[in-house]
Amino acid sequence: MAATVRLDLDGNPIAPMTICMIGAGGFIGSHLCEKLMAETPHTVLAVDVYSDKIKHLLDPPAYAEGQQARHPWDGRIQFHRLNIKHDSRLEGLIKMYDLTINLAAICTPADYNTRPLDTIYSNFIDSLPVVRYCSENSKRLIHFSTCEVYGKTIGSFLPKDHPLRKNLLRREPLKLVDGGQSQRTFVYIKDAIEAVLLMIENPARANGHIFNVGNPNNEVTVKQLAEIMIQVYSKVSGEPPVEVPTIDVSSKEFYGEGYDDSDKRIPDMTIINKQLGWNPKTSLWDLLDSTLTYQHRTYAEAIRRAMAKPVASS
Ligand SMILES: NC(=O)c1ccc[n+]([C@@H]2O[C@H](COP(=O)([O-])OP(=O)(O)OC[C@H]3O[C@@H](n4cnc5c(N)ncnc54)[C@H](O)[C@@H]3O)[C@@H](O)[C@H]2O)c1
Repeated sequence: MAATVRLDLDGNPIAPMTICMIGAGGFIGSHLCEKLMAETPHTVLAVDVYSDKIKHLLDPPAYAEGQQARHPWDGRIQFHRLNIKHDSRLEGLIKMYDLTINLAAICTPADYNTRPLDTIYSNFIDSLPVVRYCSENSKRLIHFSTCEVYGKTIGSFLPKDHPLRKNLLRREPLKLVDGGQSQRTFVYIKDAIEAVLLMIENPARANGHIFNVGNPNNEVTVKQLAEIMIQVYSKVSGEPPVEVPTIDVSSKEFYGEGYDDSDKRIPDMTIINKQLGWNPKTSLWDLLDSTLTYQHRTYAEAIRRAMAKPVASS
């Protein structure tokens, strides 16, 4: 059966492309690799220092009886362990691929105060050679960044290791920094990946633009988010909510001296909507239901076992 030809937003056939994806082993990278392998003919060189989150795409599936099983995307994804900070092979790799996607960064707010120099290097200085090699070799680049680049405004993704979620699984109270009054918007990772795929496959509409990828409809205070997460997790796990669901901590106690954050961030969807026709679809309740179901299935038993172990004392 002939494969269906993929069309771009202007109705033109999309030719298979080769992608050098830096930071492919992270949260967004692993979801993007899954999407590219499952739904497109594109080839990916996954560049990272870790590969745990994409191991399932790289390793061959279990042998079926009498025959070697293969992934449908066999041969289209390859992992290259490389630190972009100091590796002379980077330019050679970028030259070989049609498109470079740079996701490598330190992007955990708790690190901003404790590792400020690493954060600045990782988000800015370490990326400069990537930008230079793409520019000098006339290669397309899609570069990711956090909403922090805007200063005190604009929207946010749901971080993968959200401390609220870890506490939920451990049945510990959720910590609300400064009363949890900051407002945030949350976009479902699968919606965000749809937006990135549109950028990849529609260069004529995407090149030269800066896109916010967020969901302005999913705006809540962190306190409201905690309350919804408690309800959703109780439904997902079948366990009653903990007796003391939240406790207040000061930002100084939680993040350390000098932590500063926005009170409100709303992503402006005008450009992404106009150029790519993209709109997020998933409601806050549905994205939490899907995320917490996954977390519960994957980690709850391991956490319960770890917590049941006696703690060594000296
Ligand atoms: N996840 C979010 O909530 C979110 C929100 C807004 C923006 N972003 C942006 O998207 C990008 C990716 O975010 P993520 O959540 O996937 O982050 P992540 O931490 O899960 O993934 C980043 C990956 O980059 C790799 N990496 C870091 N430094 C490297 C180096 N020197 N050489 C090679 N690999 C290196 C890490 O090993 C990691 O696998 C970042 O720029 C981030 O700021 C993420």
